[in-house]
Amino acid sequence: MDFELTADQREIQALARDFAEAEIIPNAADWDREHRFPEELFPKLAHLGLMGACVPEEYGGAGADFLSYILVLEELSRADAGVGVTVAVHTSATTLPILVFGTEDQKARFVPPLARGEQIGAFALTESGSGSDAGALRTRAEPDDHGWVISGSKQWITNGSVAGTFVLFARTDAATSGARGVSCFVLDPEHVRITREEEKLGLNSSTTSDLALEGAHVGRDRLLHEEGRGFRVAMATLDGGRIGIAAQALGIAQAAYDVAREYALQREQFGRRIADFQAIQWKLADMATEIDAARLLVYRAAWRKQQGLPHTTEGAKAKLFASEMARRQTAEAIQVLGGYGYTKEFPVERFYRDAKITEIYEGTSEIQRLVIARSILGRQIREEPAPVPR
Ligand code: CAA
Repeated sequence: MDFELTADQREIQALARDFAEAEIIPNAADWDREHRFPEELFPKLAHLGLMGACVPEEYGGAGADFLSYILVLEELSRADAGVGVTVAVHTSATTLPILVFGTEDQKARFVPPLARGEQIGAFALTESGSGSDAGALRTRAEPDDHGWVISGSKQWITNGSVAGTFVLFARTDAATSGARGVSCFVLDPEHVRITREEEKLGLNSSTTSDLALEGAHVGRDRLLHEEGRGFRVAMATLDGGRIGIAAQALGIAQAAYDVAREYALQREQFGRRIADFQAIQWKLADMATEIDAARLLVYRAAWRKQQGLPHTTEGAKAKLFASEMARRQTAEAIQVLGGYGYTKEFPVERFYRDAKITEIYEGTSEIQRLVIARSILGRQIREEPAPVPR
């Protein structure tokens, strides 16, 4: 067992960290306050290869491994979690499923503009009535002579209003309910209309939109994977995506810890630095320990994915632990800073707001526990409510 990063992984980690320190950290508070998507940032990330870090070079990417990409997400999220989620959804949830499930033609056509950062990607699964129960989606793809006509709506789509490519799920078989009968499509912005921009608790530098599909005509070349097998595409995509969100949570927690540690070494009360008090030492010790534990879970899940090993459960564990840890420890960081932590003079209140979503999107903590429980207990566990005794 080797816990060291390779030289290449350390190099891309340093590249992302240097970029984040120079280009993101100085601006993150303004983007948050102004609720501004920093569109000027992404061409710069693309220039460094970070919009396609783990995409093979032949498809326009940097050709790094999946763990390297996870390190990039951690570093970007440490600076600004909104930038982190933009890159995470663009890469894990849009570019990678096309790479994994696309035909040669689809890969050659759709992946390079994404991997080179000429376009941003979005993943459109969720609808108003289908969040955790993703298989209940109602957007309909009706067959016609050339392909399908898609109608319906999507909700809370990260990157929706800035995307050049959408991976979108719709029901091709109206007779089937649930996960069966769902298919996956690769769409252009012309196929969708943005109906609303969401206001959020945090992640204010990322965009989250509602979309309408109003009889969008799409050809057969837009079907990703087999007809009726789209739900598997969604689930396999989320298996990897959840590792990215876990890395985002890890980056946010690390940022909060860094500020809390520095503050504790400076701030004096009762004639001593607060770091000299055991009450503060124990908080920092717990933070450091939990961040370390999350990092091990996240890197293990990423390593398993890049080895081609099953990683559904490991990704769910990493996301569950890292996200709940980030929520807990960003709150502790505010506590270390006291009144200052509650103000915008320090970034920890932003970290706290940004951390919360990591327990919700790409599967809530409850869904992660369900995935883990199924792997522990098998699918024979009774999932229907027990009949009420009469
Ligand atoms: N990989 C491949 N296939 C999988 C799979 C996996 N990990 N998990 C399930 N499947 C397949 C099953 O084998 C089954 O296939 P068959 O019908 O061919 O047998 C099919 O998918 C249905 O599986 P289930 O019976 O397990 O489906 P379910 O209805 O019980 O739902 C669930 C499972 C885990 C609850 C799923 O609905 C789920 O993950 N829900 C959460 C949705 C979610 O994470 N949404 C995130 C939105 S995107 C986002 O947040 C992006 C962003 O902005 C940051």
